[in-house]
Amino acid sequence: MTDDLLGRHRRVLPDWLALYYEDPLEITHGEGRHVWDSDGNQYLDFFGGILTTMTAHALPEITKAVGEQAGRIVHSSTLYLNRPMVELAERIAKLSGIPDARVFFTTSGTEANDTALLLATTYRRSNTILAMRNSYHGRSFSAVGITGNRGWSPTSLSPLQTLYVHGGVRTRGPYADLDDRAFIAACVDDLKDLLGHTRPPAALIAEPIQGVGGFTSGPDGLYAAFREVLAERGILWIADEVQTGWGRTGDHFWGWQAHGHNGPPDIVTFAKGIGNGMSIGGVIARSEIMNCLDANSISTFGGTQITMAAGLANLTYLLEHDLQGNARRVGGLLIERLRAVAAQVPYVREVRGRGLMIGIELADPTTGAAAPEAASAVLEEARSGGLLIGKGGGHDTSALRVAPPLSLTVAEAEEGAAILERALRSLQ
Ligand SMILES: Cc1ncc(COP(=O)(O)O)c(C=O)c1O
Repeated sequence: MTDDLLGRHRRVLPDWLALYYEDPLEITHGEGRHVWDSDGNQYLDFFGGILTTMTAHALPEITKAVGEQAGRIVHSSTLYLNRPMVELAERIAKLSGIPDARVFFTTSGTEANDTALLLATTYRRSNTILAMRNSYHGRSFSAVGITGNRGWSPTSLSPLQTLYVHGGVRTRGPYADLDDRAFIAACVDDLKDLLGHTRPPAALIAEPIQGVGGFTSGPDGLYAAFREVLAERGILWIADEVQTGWGRTGDHFWGWQAHGHNGPPDIVTFAKGIGNGMSIGGVIARSEIMNCLDANSISTFGGTQITMAAGLANLTYLLEHDLQGNARRVGGLLIERLRAVAAQVPYVREVRGRGLMIGIELADPTTGAAAPEAASAVLEEARSGGLLIGKGGGHDTSALRVAPPLSLTVAEAEEGAAILERALRSLQ
C-alpha cells in the first residue's frame, strides 16, 4: 500500500471496526474462489467476505445481470411496483416451505432480524425473547440485545427482555459430557424450567449453526425438540439463516432442516450469501405474522432493483449448478482432510461443522484453555501461504472459520487444506 490507507482508515473510521492481520489487507479484485490484494498477491478465499460471496467472485452471470439492470434502473423504492423484487420474493417464498409465505427485503441481516423481532413482539404482544448463548444476530440496538456473545455486545441496555437458552454449543457448558439424546433432553428440561419463571416470550431466535460464535451447533433435532415446547405455548421460532441458508451446510438447503421434522420455523431471516456480495437481507413469515403490523413500514433500499437482479441471477446459478450438492461433496472431503490433520496437531480441540461451514477450535494442549493467540497466528500463517480464512468463537475468539464460496472445486479444497495444514503445524 503506497498511500497509507491503513493510517487513513484509522484516522477516519471507528476504533471498534476491527481489521484482520497485523498488516491489514486491501483486496482489490477477485475471480472464482481467488482474490488479489493491492500488492498483487493472490489468495484462495475461504472466507468470502464473511460468507457473502457465496457463489464465486466476479461470476459472469451475476455481473451481466447487474450491468444490464444498472443500465435500466438501479432503484425506484417500494412505492412503485418492482418486478425483480416480486420475482425473487416468489422464489424465496416457495423455497422457504413456509405456508402462505410473505417476504420483506432489507439491506442487511441486522435489519432482517430487527424486522423479525418487530413482527414477533407485535404478534405476541410480548417483548421477552429467548435467544441462545453464544449467538450473534447483528449490530443494531435490538440485535445486540439478543446477542449472547460478549465480544459483540457493546451494551447491556435493550428494548427487549432476553433470556439465554442452553444448547448452541455442543462441546462446552454444563451438558457437554452427555450423549446427544441426553443433551437435547437436558436443554429441553432447562427451557421448560425457564418458561415456568418468566412472562410468556414472543419467540425463540436461533442460528442453526452459530456463525460468529465459531460454527458451533447443538445436536441435530435440538430445535425440533424446542419447537414442540414452544408451539404448545404459542411461542414463535425464528431461524436466523443469515449464514446457514441457501445450501451452505450441504446436507440441507436451510440450516433449520437439520432440526425440522415438525415443519419450518414461523419466521426465517436471511442475508449475506443470497446477494453474492450485494446487500440483500430479508424476512420470510406466514402472512398472519407478516401482516400483524398496523402501521406503514418501509426499508428505502430494501429490495432495490440492482440487488434483486443480483439475487435472482445468483439463486438461478446456485440451483442450476447444484451448489448445495457441491458444498456437501467438497465440504465433506475438506472436513475429513482437516480432521486428519487435526488429529496430529495437539492445539486443535475440535473440527466441526458441515458442508462448507467448518470450524476449527484451538485450545492450549497443556491447560485446555482457549487459544485466541494461536488462532491469530494460524490466520497470519495461512495468509502468508496464500489462504484467507476467518476467526470466531465465544468470549475467546479461538476458532478458525472456513467458509469458501460454494462453487469450490476439489483441487482448490486440497490446495487450501494443504496451506491450512502447514499453518496449523507451525503451532507446534
Ligand atoms: C447469524 C447472523 N445474523 C445476523 C447477522 C447480521 O448481519 P449483517 O452484518 O448483514 O447486519 C450476522 C452477521 O454476521 C450473522 O452472522
